[in-house]
Amino acid sequence: MLRCLRCKGDVAVHPSGLQCRKCSSVFPITNGVLRFVESQGYAGNFGFEWGKYARTQLDGEISNLSERQFIESTGFSPAELQGKWVLDIGCGMGRFADVASRWGANVVGIDLSLAADVAARNLCSRDNVWICQASVLNLPFLEQSFDYIYSIGVLHHTPDCEQSFKCLPKLLKPGGSIAIWLYSAYVRWYRMSDVYRKLTTKLSPKSLHALCVAIDPLYYIHRGLRWIPGIGSVLSGALSYAVPMNMNPSREWRLLDTFDWYSPVYQSKHTYEEVFRWFEDCGLR
Ligand SMILES: C[S@@+](CC[C@H](N)C(=O)[O-])C[C@H]1O[C@@H](n2cnc3c(N)ncnc32)[C@H](O)[C@@H]1O
Ligand SMILES: [Zn+2]
Repeated sequence: MLRCLRCKGDVAVHPSGLQCRKCSSVFPITNGVLRFVESQGYAGNFGFEWGKYARTQLDGEISNLSERQFIESTGFSPAELQGKWVLDIGCGMGRFADVASRWGANVVGIDLSLAADVAARNLCSRDNVWICQASVLNLPFLEQSFDYIYSIGVLHHTPDCEQSFKCLPKLLKPGGSIAIWLYSAYVRWYRMSDVYRKLTTKLSPKSLHALCVAIDPLYYIHRGLRWIPGIGSVLSGALSYAVPMNMNPSREWRLLDTFDWYSPVYQSKHTYEEVFRWFEDCGLR
């Protein structure tokens, strides 16, 4: 299902990766990742994020939250995915590729950032998972290669969400399914964060992460305020409006998600109307 990114020619195995038969371009494999880009581009924050929180959201003995989130955001079921070819766009550290591959699918995960390396490490023991470092805007796959495509929390972090989405339907086999999950334009709690993001997106990932750690105690102030009878809930509401941050009871999840909100260079929000139109434009039902 692979083709040359530069000339669309056939590719063949080469000692250090894949090589195009036509233009001789080589796409290396390093750390178990097939590389189609030379850098993370604008997505370095995600390389940092998933390097730091490499397994936090991975399902395990104590949590199956990622599986529940996968079902909720795609509507896919284990019976459907079993034995099918599935493409995970923006796989991050691989938590949903983990779910789909546990369900018996053959999963190809792609990510622009070095999160790809983390996914490859997390899932290296599976023989039904392949990880590529590539951009959704320039994918190395033949048309009609996949039965299912999903992209959870990714396309709104690209320079143009609609354009990124429209790269995908042609990769589906006839009768295939695609599911995407995007930020909502209807939610309003984050208004103030749009102001802060003008600064936070310019900080280095390390500095921004230190800032997230520094403001984390607000979570406890927040919870304390709720105990004050009467005005407590007003005060805690005002605080979350003034400083939007993740309120997960787990400190690790909270820091991860607060960083995830304030670090991406691109962050767009979308309406149902808009997204339904994109699906219709692509001839999807
Ligand atoms: C918020 S993370 C979500 C990761 C994963 N889907 C999850 O929910 O755990 C967004 C991911 O999109 C990736 N990404 C951003 N722009 C991309 C692009 N143009 N092509 C592929 N991946 C991209 C980032 O590197 C990052 O890992
Ligand atoms: Zn080529």
